[in-house]
Amino acid sequence: MTVKVVVGTQFGDEGKGKIVDLLASSFDVIARFNGGANAGHTVVAEGQRFAFRLLPSGAVRQKQTAICNGVVVDAEQLLGEIADIEERTGREVRLWLSDRAHVVMPYHKILDEAEKSLVGKLSSGSTGRGIGPCYGDKVTRTGIRICDLLDEESLRAKLDVYYPLREKLLGAYGLKLGLSKEELVKWCLEKGTMLKRYVADTSLLLNRAIDEGKNVLLEGAQGTHLDIDHGIYPYGTSSNTIAGGACTGTGISPTRIDQVVGIVKAYTSRVGEGPFPTELDEPMASRIREKGGEYGTVTRRPRRCGWLDLVMVRYALRVNGISSLAMTKLDVLGGLREVKVAVAYEHDGEEITEFPANMRVLSACRPVYETLPGWPDLPAAVWKEVAGRGYEELPMALREYIAYVQRSLRTNVDIISLGQDRDATIVKGS
Ligand code: IMP
Ligand code: MG
Repeated sequence: MTVKVVVGTQFGDEGKGKIVDLLASSFDVIARFNGGANAGHTVVAEGQRFAFRLLPSGAVRQKQTAICNGVVVDAEQLLGEIADIEERTGREVRLWLSDRAHVVMPYHKILDEAEKSLVGKLSSGSTGRGIGPCYGDKVTRTGIRICDLLDEESLRAKLDVYYPLREKLLGAYGLKLGLSKEELVKWCLEKGTMLKRYVADTSLLLNRAIDEGKNVLLEGAQGTHLDIDHGIYPYGTSSNTIAGGACTGTGISPTRIDQVVGIVKAYTSRVGEGPFPTELDEPMASRIREKGGEYGTVTRRPRRCGWLDLVMVRYALRVNGISSLAMTKLDVLGGLREVKVAVAYEHDGEEITEFPANMRVLSACRPVYETLPGWPDLPAAVWKEVAGRGYEELPMALREYIAYVQRSLRTNVDIISLGQDRDATIVKGS
């Protein structure tokens, strides 16, 4: 029996989807604990490319999946993903959907877009999926949960109160919902009918699975530095993306978690606003962006790209309790004469090694770099072959890069990913 948590150590988009899909083969249940359709997980398998926003990445393997209480659910998106995967694989999606998860309502999406422009420079550059307003309602206790979609009486009682409040708020912004209260009730009940077969007490089922000796994988969305408490506030997302979020977001006790795996991309990328110490200028940023396909899965926005920042990753090791790392996209850096890694920051003439809370301080931090030799650029098919031959066959400079990261972080890199395909991966010690 193993309960493993997988989290991103940077700003999200570390390649968690691929790693979770890879690990999923030895797990019985794969569950998501945070975020919503703001996430974008790409899995390339069986000659097909799958991009999930809500379903856990293990869904491709026809594993039992769960969307737990910490997730905010965009019902239309979820139903669309289920239909798509079932059509393309010819297999049924096995899903437990928490009755306690909050529903992203049509007004949340409109408010998300409106608030983005209202806060101007302080905007996180949200994905516009209604995530912030939905978590906002959850915290202020004015949210609609999945269980409400199955109970017309409580749904009506809530919308009798909340609908006029949301209408007023939208009106203050000069906006309209475009749905009457009755239409909104109908929308909710329809979604409830379609989702009913999946709805469950996910905490109960997951704990029962653990009791039965099953292996459970808890898949985090986004990354450590987007966490609402530990991330680059206010530029991050609205959920707890760190390993602790796996407990509150599922109803599994911290005492039942065996291991936390951190995903670290060989460089850093960022899709929203906010300070980014190792951000690269052109033309280097474009080179990495194009080669790494660094465009938002949800918004298609070009991602900002920069060197690997070990100050950030070290912080992630601490707040998550990571004992093993998976390093992704090392192939993307191939072909550079040298690569850089930030080991500390310089601020006001002083060297700092801990990630600051104050965004004004972070903006003024200059990275202190270590420069390492680069490794060759190889076609995807060759990386796959190289991966098949094992770690010792990797180009020497690439092994040195990995060894440098391990030494510096005092943590093993146990999985090395050299391309999108499942096969372009080395699992050390296997
Ligand atoms: P929200 O989660 O849509 O509210 O967006 C808040 C911030 O988090 C924005 O800067 C987004 O670009 C960023 N963000 C949200 N989800 C992801 C993700 O899955 N990957 C990378 N960035 C994300
Ligand atoms: Mg993503």
